[in-house]
Amino acid sequence: MKVSIIGTGYVGLVTGVCLAEKGHRVICVDVDQEKVDKINQAIPPIYEQGLEELLEKNINVNLRATTDLHKSVIETDISLIAVGTPFDGSEIDLTYIQEASHRIGKALQDKSTYHVVVVKSTVVPGTTDEVVLPILEEASGKKAGVEFGVGMNPEFLREGEAIQDFMFPDRIVLGGIDEKSINALEELYSVFDGVDKLRTNPKTAEMIKYTANSLLATMISFSNEIGNLCTALGGIDVVEVMQGVHLDKRLSPIMPNGDRIVPSFTTYLEAGCGFGGSCFPKDVKALIAHGEKVGRPMRLLDAVIQVNEQQPQQVLSLLKKHFPSLKGIRIAVLGLAFKPGTDDVRESPAIPIVKDLLAQEVEIRAYDPVAKYEAQRLFSNHEILYCDDLAQALQDVQAVVLLTRWEEFKRIPELLTHLDPQPLFIDGRRMLDKNSIARYDGIGL
Ligand code: UGA
Repeated sequence: MKVSIIGTGYVGLVTGVCLAEKGHRVICVDVDQEKVDKINQAIPPIYEQGLEELLEKNINVNLRATTDLHKSVIETDISLIAVGTPFDGSEIDLTYIQEASHRIGKALQDKSTYHVVVVKSTVVPGTTDEVVLPILEEASGKKAGVEFGVGMNPEFLREGEAIQDFMFPDRIVLGGIDEKSINALEELYSVFDGVDKLRTNPKTAEMIKYTANSLLATMISFSNEIGNLCTALGGIDVVEVMQGVHLDKRLSPIMPNGDRIVPSFTTYLEAGCGFGGSCFPKDVKALIAHGEKVGRPMRLLDAVIQVNEQQPQQVLSLLKKHFPSLKGIRIAVLGLAFKPGTDDVRESPAIPIVKDLLAQEVEIRAYDPVAKYEAQRLFSNHEILYCDDLAQALQDVQAVVLLTRWEEFKRIPELLTHLDPQPLFIDGRRMLDKNSIARYDGIGL
């Protein structure tokens, strides 16, 4: 199929490159000429594992980038809107969605053949039907469901694993205002053989996306609340508690040969210093705000956010348990990214923790295998010593806090044995074996 993708951010570009790899003819459209030029030169404007290789392979074969939205819509059968939907604190900002819809509508005015417009951006339920569709109709002077189709197709891409997630999807949600729109989406994704595809309406498709992220965020806050209670009660380790819970055969089914299937989602049922990133905090807050707007307060999700916002404090309380005053203490902060595999520090639990430590005049030695530059930009006015390797960060400190589950941190117990005296170690992710470190403390212990 001939596909135009509006917006070449993380979702748009990954989608474009992967659909091209799957054999479609793709045009990526962006208002930013510099980005467009980079893409055409096979330089990805963002870092995502595997993206560069696929871009190099497909550019000028099945894929090209342009700023000309009008021509791209005319020349393709289907357009996917993948522009940003930032959350402004009270609702998601639909400015970019509205602009893109208007411009697509104008192009449809000049197009004689049937075209399908699909929203891929994360938008609150009702947006496709109540915002995008009317703008398209007004700008084009045409009728949705007659002269053009409208759909909603959410993405389920994890940062750092977006290419894998796109190429090997667990599900594809095909939302459409009518059979013809859904059929067009079905044809687009027919290249993904054997994958579960759910045909539904746009509003349900939008809700699936928010519900999926809200469930995972809820599992994290639930585990954190249990972990905090374990700490308060004493004599209980949340890691053991969760091991016991994970063994429920409904969470890890037992196969006829006695082996267990351990679904990867059980990793969200572990206590730590909280979730971050550009999706969970924003999506849960947007759904809460949307619920309020329609007179349905989301009490559980409210609590999910509250627990998450307080969770970094748990790390600080643990430090204060051992050091009544933190002033002048040297502390190694290990992990600044919101999760391993990315340099993204947006909403990372490390941010409030570092800010609080700075306010208490702690001497910080920070180390992250990839997020150093992003963190430096964020804390540009503060005095933090950024270390280039893990061993250096551990030198001469009185305490160490681990905030991101980087694989490399598995070396910590070994590295600590060479230090005398050993610093206090606070495991903000319960990543390391508590018996492998002399002075160990952690969330939920
Ligand atoms: C998340 C969802 O997992 C994707 O399915 C979704 O498509 C994406 O949001 C989105 O809406 O675009 P992402 O934010 O990249 O993806 O990251 P996750 O790997 O899910 O991590 C989110 C947060 O949960 C991180 O702060 C991480 O530390 C925490 N987490 C993650 C855990 O606590 N445990 C885990 O096992 C994984």
